[in-house]
Amino acid sequence: MRLTVIGTGYLGAVHAACMADLGHEVLGVDIDAEKIAALGEGRVPFFEPGLQEVLGTAVASGRLRFTTAIDEAADFGDVHFVCVNTPQRRDSSAADLRAVDAVIDALVPRLRGRCLVVGKSTVPVGTTARLSARVAELAQEGADVEVAWNPEFLREGFAVQDTLRPERLVTGVQTPWADRTLREVYAPLLRTGVPYISTGPATAELVKVAANSFLATKISFINAMAEVCDATGADVTTLAEALGYDTRIGRRFLKAGLGFGGGCLPKDIRAFTARADELGVGSAVAFLHEVDAINTRQRRRTVDIARDMAGGGFEGRRIAVLGATFKPDSDDVRDSPALAVAAAIHGEGAAVRLHDPQGMDNARAVLPVLDYVPDVTKACEGADLVLHLTEWADYRRIDPAELAAVTPTRRILDARNALDAALWVSAGWTLRALGRPTPAPLPSQQTAAGHESAVRSAEPA
Ligand code: UGA
Repeated sequence: MRLTVIGTGYLGAVHAACMADLGHEVLGVDIDAEKIAALGEGRVPFFEPGLQEVLGTAVASGRLRFTTAIDEAADFGDVHFVCVNTPQRRDSSAADLRAVDAVIDALVPRLRGRCLVVGKSTVPVGTTARLSARVAELAQEGADVEVAWNPEFLREGFAVQDTLRPERLVTGVQTPWADRTLREVYAPLLRTGVPYISTGPATAELVKVAANSFLATKISFINAMAEVCDATGADVTTLAEALGYDTRIGRRFLKAGLGFGGGCLPKDIRAFTARADELGVGSAVAFLHEVDAINTRQRRRTVDIARDMAGGGFEGRRIAVLGATFKPDSDDVRDSPALAVAAAIHGEGAAVRLHDPQGMDNARAVLPVLDYVPDVTKACEGADLVLHLTEWADYRRIDPAELAAVTPTRRILDARNALDAALWVSAGWTLRALGRPTPAPLPSQQTAAGHESAVRSAEPA
């Protein structure tokens, strides 16, 4: 099939490359000429594991091309995927749909014959209906343009695998033709047994925001438990483990810590509450305000614990920050909890040295006042306190004994509950975490007995 993918950010670039991988002829479209030039040469302009290979192969095969010309897109194919950004509005918590509307306004008057415009961006429920009315006004005589919604569930860091081996496909369609067309697009995946849910547009739109709301709620639930653990001496990591064995609850997304960020979860729950208010059902999802509040509170709690560990204030303190991205295996710093904490600490007078394996350029662009350093040792040299804020695997591999040599105070706050506390304590560090008791300091760093007692005291109660 001949498909266009309009908007080539984290979502669209992956979708375009993966659709070409499935065997379709694909044209990617974006207004950003620099991005289009890079993609056209087979280069991914951001960090996403595995995408480089799929994109490179697709471009080399000739099945994937890129353009900035919307005319070309209108002529190219009959199925047009809309993958543009729907960020939070500046003046409210609702979604900013200007990019989606701009695509419809530019594309639809240029279409001829029977076409399907398929939205993949996350939008408020009712958007397909609203856009269908707009399409009816904009379409040329003789053109038959239909809108469908096909929400995307990919996670950054696993985007290629989530697209080529999704857990489910959901489409919201208005006619049997649209249903048949989308089944044809995804035929190679359907043959592998991927569950396919074909429903109306409103349900499809809601599936996406409901899924992200559920995930956000799960994270805030365990972070709320972490706050209770801190007040009682209980250990949230053991609590989560014990809860997770109940298959009705499950272990995933019960990782307590600094909370969620990124371009999706925070703005999606806010947009959902705004839309629910418009629909008169605001009280049904009012709990999402609390989910949001718990989440932002983790950032403040982290700053408070860090201030305490730094001796009561940050003025004149050297703080090493490990992690800038909103999660590992991504270079995305949008609404990053790590960067929010780094900014707050810097604002209180700390000299912040920051390291991140992939997110330094993006972080520097939004927060140029920090000192960005290329390796962990440099970041921690002479630091009064080390903050572990994004759980990159690289940081779990740090040898705390080696790092102790450059960090005389040996104090670390593990805001992601990801480090081996026993190992750090046995290397002479004072380690604190969110929702876990502080492991007892080592009585004697030299003796084997001392090591054992530190290991025991750091273990879950
Ligand atoms: C999220 C959803 O997981 C995807 O299914 C969805 O398609 C995507 O949003 C989207 O709407 O486009 P993503 O933003 O890539 O994906 O990130 P997640 O893996 O969901 O992580 C979100 C945040 O939650 C991260 O900051 C992560 O560190 C945090 N998190 C995650 C926790 O704090 N604890 C956990 O247990 C899990």
